[in-house]
Amino acid sequence: MSRIAYVNGRYVPHAQARVHIDDRGYQFGDGIYEVCAVRGGHMIDNGPHLDRLERSLREMAMAMPMSRAALECVMRETIRRNLVRDGIVYLQMTRGVAPRDHAFPKHPKTQIVVTARNAKPHAAAMVEDGVKAIVQPDIRWGRCDIKTISLLPNCIAKQAARVAGAYEAILVDENGVVTEGSSSNAWIVTQDGKLVTRPPSNDILNGITRLEIIRIAKALGLAFEERAFTLDEMRRAREAFVTSASSFAMPVTQLDEAPIANGKPGTLALRLRAAYLAHMDQQAGAA
Ligand code: PDD
Repeated sequence: MSRIAYVNGRYVPHAQARVHIDDRGYQFGDGIYEVCAVRGGHMIDNGPHLDRLERSLREMAMAMPMSRAALECVMRETIRRNLVRDGIVYLQMTRGVAPRDHAFPKHPKTQIVVTARNAKPHAAAMVEDGVKAIVQPDIRWGRCDIKTISLLPNCIAKQAARVAGAYEAILVDENGVVTEGSSSNAWIVTQDGKLVTRPPSNDILNGITRLEIIRIAKALGLAFEERAFTLDEMRRAREAFVTSASSFAMPVTQLDEAPIANGKPGTLALRLRAAYLAHMDQQAGAA
């Protein structure tokens, strides 16, 4: 089956989908995006994802190119045309096409691209054994709360992880404090059993999976603290895991060359993963 992309009002074969070389996304990384999980053909948590999209647009002084209802229709139709059951829908908006000039164009026209694809299920071993992460310096800018397509520092960190045979790079600031993963939020369970993740700020992306896992943890009555934690604490943690729309909750059992705790996925990480999968299945079933 050939893939279909939505590009500025038209559904086109993926191989022929094009944007102009003067698109500010191409020239400057001047745009924003969202990634929404798809389960059983249905978007998961699309409401909060579109809330965050609208926030990113506002923070970038960009206009929504269509109504939210129309956008949801396009996302659904892209999922349908690509026969996506379990995977992701990707949505990108840029400030549009204009002669190259750093300052914003006077009359920008937001450009939009939507794609969707199936994703392979996580290999059983990743969940049963956990994954390796490496530590990388956080060299990003001061507005990591905006889901911008300017992802070069994230790409550099992820590539370092790939080279090291690791799944994720954990980003650490100049004070030795963990910010987040290169494309995920970071969590630990302390030695006294407290679930900890960093509060939202300009230093991290406020993950939609993160918000749902917090809701689940509270509903389960788990001891939970929203605060920054150091790399040292993460190395000494009882458990660690990362969350995102594509990882769900993924246990991290090795950091650089050392195991975390006994090197096996933690009970809370697995419990939260199971609860998150149930949350997705429930939304897919109810839709
Ligand atoms: N990444 N932090 C960063 C830097 C991210 O890029 C992501 C998501 C997250 C988790 O956010 P959410 O739970 O809403 O997926 C945190 C997506 C999956 C990506 O870039 O592909």
